[in-house]
Amino acid sequence: MEMKIHHLGYAVSSIEKSMPVFEVLGWKARNGITDDGPRKVRIAFLEKEGQLLELVAPLGDDSPVHQALKQNKGVPTPYHICYEVESLDAARIELKQKGFMPFIPASPAPAIEDRNVEWFFALNLGIIELVEREKRG
Ligand code: NI
Repeated sequence: MEMKIHHLGYAVSSIEKSMPVFEVLGWKARNGITDDGPRKVRIAFLEKEGQLLELVAPLGDDSPVHQALKQNKGVPTPYHICYEVESLDAARIELKQKGFMPFIPASPAPAIEDRNVEWFFALNLGIIELVEREKRG
């Protein structure tokens, strides 16, 4: 299975406050900020030397990002790597055989052109995100 790194996800309390600090290091804002209501997160993508960084901030008090921030005492922290795959269905079968457990089902991500993303957990690794290469109908 081919898996390319698509982005590194960073949990932050505030995109507006963190963005200028990342810009000091040469990261450039790619698009605007996307509010993803169903996932209760705000997302902005930054780019540097062809690499993508995703800033993920909480949208509301019950956002799942609070957990990642709380574990790091409120300090912004990388918390997932997203891999791009050709097919989520094929990747799911293969990863399950190798001990990865799906824990958030596939759904379209508005911040990534509505391509389907799915989350998995593995012991001794933690969480990963997969994004499908092309949008499906
Ligand atoms: Ni992500």
